[in-house]
Formats: sequence, C-alpha cells, structure tokens
Amino acid sequence: MARKSRTPKWLEAARKRDAEAMAQGRSDWLMRALGRAGVMPRAEAEAAIRAGRVEVDGQVVTEPFAPVSATQTVRVDGREHSLTASTRVLMFHKPAGPVVHGTDPEGVGTVFERLRAVLPEPLRGYEWLAVGRLDRDTTGLLLFTNDERFVRHGTAPQTHLPKRYVAQVEGQPNASALQRLRDGVELEDGLTRPARAESRASDVVELTLTEGRHHQVKRMLAAVGHPVLTLHREAVGDVVLDVAEGGWRELQEVEVSKALGFRSERESDEAP
Ligand code: URA
Repeated sequence: MARKSRTPKWLEAARKRDAEAMAQGRSDWLMRALGRAGVMPRAEAEAAIRAGRVEVDGQVVTEPFAPVSATQTVRVDGREHSLTASTRVLMFHKPAGPVVHGTDPEGVGTVFERLRAVLPEPLRGYEWLAVGRLDRDTTGLLLFTNDERFVRHGTAPQTHLPKRYVAQVEGQPNASALQRLRDGVELEDGLTRPARAESRASDVVELTLTEGRHHQVKRMLAAVGHPVLTLHREAVGDVVLDVAEGGWRELQEVEVSKALGFRSERESDEAP
C-alpha cells in the first residue's frame, strides 16, 4: 500500500504557489516578505493580511502566501513599505533554559521571545530565524537572521562551517579519548567527520565540529565515555561570542561575508 504523504495540504499548496511565483520571476510570499523586510514578523503579517490591512499595487490581498516581488508597492494600513531587504545577522548569547523552537508546550520560554525582549523597536519588525539549534540546557552563541538563505548557509552539511564548543564532562578524558573524537566516532547515524579536540582542563574539552547533527557533542562525548555536564558554544566560523549572557549585537557585513563565508549574490542564485 502506498505510504500516505505526511505533507499537509496547505503546505503543498503553498509550495506550489511559491514555485509558480518563482517561475514568474516573483520572489516571495507576501507574509514572508514582510517579515524579512522588517515590516512585521510573520505571525503579525499573516493576521494583518487576513484582516485586509495589506495592499499590493493598490489591491487588498488577503492571502498570506500570495506571491510578491520587491518591485511591487506594498502598503500596510495605508502606509507604504519597501520589501527590499538586506541580509541581517545577529549574535545572541543564549542562556540555559529557553528552547530553540517556535512552539513551547512546556512553557519554559523560547529564544525568540528572549531575543525580541532585548531588541530595540526598529528590529522587532523582523522575523528572526534561528540559524540551527542549541539544546535547552546549552548556552552560548546562537545566530539569528532575517534571510532564509543565510539559515541554509549556516546549517547545510556541505558548508562545513566550524562550530566551537566547550564541554564540562564526567571523568577526565585521556589522550586516546581525545584522539577518538578527532578521528571520528561511530554514532547511530554514522561516523562523525574529523574534528578538533583539545583538553582545556582535566574535565573540560574544547571540541570544534564541521557538521551539526542532533545532540552531536553530547553523543560524541558519551560515546567516548565522558557524558556532558554542561555545554557552551563559543564560536561559529570565525565569529566568537563577545556579548554577555542574554545580550545581542548585530554582525557587520564583513563578519557575515568573511568570518562566516556568506556570499549573498551567489547563494541567492542557488536558492530555490
Ligand atoms: N551538540 C549538542 O549535543 N547539543 C547542542 O546544543 C549543540 C551541539
């Protein structure tokens, strides 16, 4: 019996509309374009569109997934907004506790709420996307961006962007445990890529990975006999965390292009 597709109908329809929009040289869904350009975050944009508050080229549009291009004139409540958006990237120092998920069934709080609470008003209109995940109890550097292409760049396995972690572990890893981490550890989803592993103290390991599998650091250290007690991410690419816990700053263009290796023109050509 054929397996039932798990993709919801609304998502299939939205993807189809998106593909048609791309084929017509149009570039985005209205709701997403508003979030990327900093007009308002997606959920607010969706509500505003459905409420008939948004016009595109003088016509009220009530479909959040309607295709739109940056050359069209968009008005919200009569006020014109530009949909032209440059790539913006924020560094956030994640504390232990909040989840990196949009949904929060346990009510522990999300990093999106924490970030929004400390951002100034002009930056609250953006839809900030997390670039990858950190576990709830992991602290440290989490990047946010308004640009899905940057999310792909930061999380795609083929980018091999190094991520540096510091783990306090049970026991005292010896030279052979560190060598196993460097050479690759066999996990249930396959052998890990070669990594950098150094001892910072008898029970503290610095581990730099160029891939980002689920719970990878914890699984690797557990596999060599040293379960993680605390985990902190201190660098992504050549960007080193330099704000206090709970704090943020915007990265400069040169950091995004050089320290993180993102070339927006080239990668936009590759975007679907
Ligand atoms: N690896 C983990 O195990 N957890 C994280 O949060 C990040 C990397």
